[in-house]
Amino acid sequence: MIETTEAQWVELAAAARQACANAYSPYSGFRVGAAVRSGDGAIATGCNVENASFGLTVCAERNAVFRAIADGAREITAVALYTPTPEPAMPCGACRQVIAEFGRDAHIRSFCDGPAVAGFTLGELLPGVFTLPAK
Ligand code: THU
Repeated sequence: MIETTEAQWVELAAAARQACANAYSPYSGFRVGAAVRSGDGAIATGCNVENASFGLTVCAERNAVFRAIADGAREITAVALYTPTPEPAMPCGACRQVIAEFGRDAHIRSFCDGPAVAGFTLGELLPGVFTLPAK
């Protein structure tokens, strides 16, 4: 397992915060930024992108993971989430499953405008990950 240093978490949190500035959330008004660190140390960011057809909305975490994969990553080691709220937000269930695809051992931290930082392993957040039976 690749450990994330505290300095790397600071960098990842700053990237998530910056990504949040681009959130497109006119319907909920809830802004989210995410940054993922892949096995080779690259950082990819994403924000939530909402749609007038509400169900087509994509969360910040999934956009960040998909960008990392599109850039060539195949292993996600750390995910930072940022919301401009007094308390840290939790990643939704769909995003947990998507993170699991590339980071069964990923660490996740949620940052906000208050002093609290929530930290988890993916396994803690999604103990019953869906997998297909071996072929
Ligand atoms: N959202 C995220 O970006 N990540 C999550 O983990 C939960 C929810 C977004 C989706 C939507 O744009 C807004 O927050 C309200 O649900």
